[in-house]
Amino acid sequence: MKAVILAGGTGTRLLPLTRLLNKHLLPVGKLPMICYSLQSLNEAGISDILLVTGRQAAGSFIQFLGSGYEYGVSLTYRIQEEAGGIAQALELAKPFVGNDQKFVVLLGDNLFEESLKPHIDAFEQQPEGAMVLLKQVPDPERYGVPVFDANGYIERIDEKPAHPQTNYCVTGIYMYDTSVFTYITEQAPSNRGELEITDVNNAYAGKRKLAFSHLQGWWTDAGTFDSLLEAAVKLMGAAP
Ligand code: G1P
Repeated sequence: MKAVILAGGTGTRLLPLTRLLNKHLLPVGKLPMICYSLQSLNEAGISDILLVTGRQAAGSFIQFLGSGYEYGVSLTYRIQEEAGGIAQALELAKPFVGNDQKFVVLLGDNLFEESLKPHIDAFEQQPEGAMVLLKQVPDPERYGVPVFDANGYIERIDEKPAHPQTNYCVTGIYMYDTSVFTYITEQAPSNRGELEITDVNNAYAGKRKLAFSHLQGWWTDAGTFDSLLEAAVKLMGAAP
């Protein structure tokens, strides 16, 4: 299986740090944030990885990571010219994914401790569709929030709802079949002018093809100063 790491965006919640460095290159403990995604994928047995980032940061990523061999992975790079949302960045992965049936997507600011392997194995068994990983959080209004139907399927995901229906968050760890690229082309920009990954996931949910699994261990979206600090403390010992 291949994987795509999305490492673009403007990182506005981490200004002024992100005026100097792309969010995914900021230090978390002993390593730049991006290294944890590479470690997780490598541990899960995935080595063929596409990194999508913006033009300004691309040189720094290539300088630091090169081919990826130090992390046991093989990196391909693509440039997202303008920040247009997670789904727009994901669309750039289409030629890389090719005819491979399924692949993993990580938002590069999602940091977590447990192995992705069992979740990926479960997705391999799934005949088609997509899978999201859920985590119970105290502040679901910051995230995509799943709503379940009477049979326990995800009926839809509400993106940053003012009044969340559950206390689960859809983490930035996604698994898709190649129909994701069709669903992306069917989406229109949201109110904030972005192609939303939640709209794409809702296309799967509408067909009852959005499976889910629960993350058991620690997880954070290190996009704010508080979560960046929490991640640094948690992951301080994770580097060699
Ligand atoms: C994005 C997604 C959201 C998801 C979150 C996880 O939000 O839109 O559904 O819960 O990632 O990190 P963002 O961090 O871009 O606001």
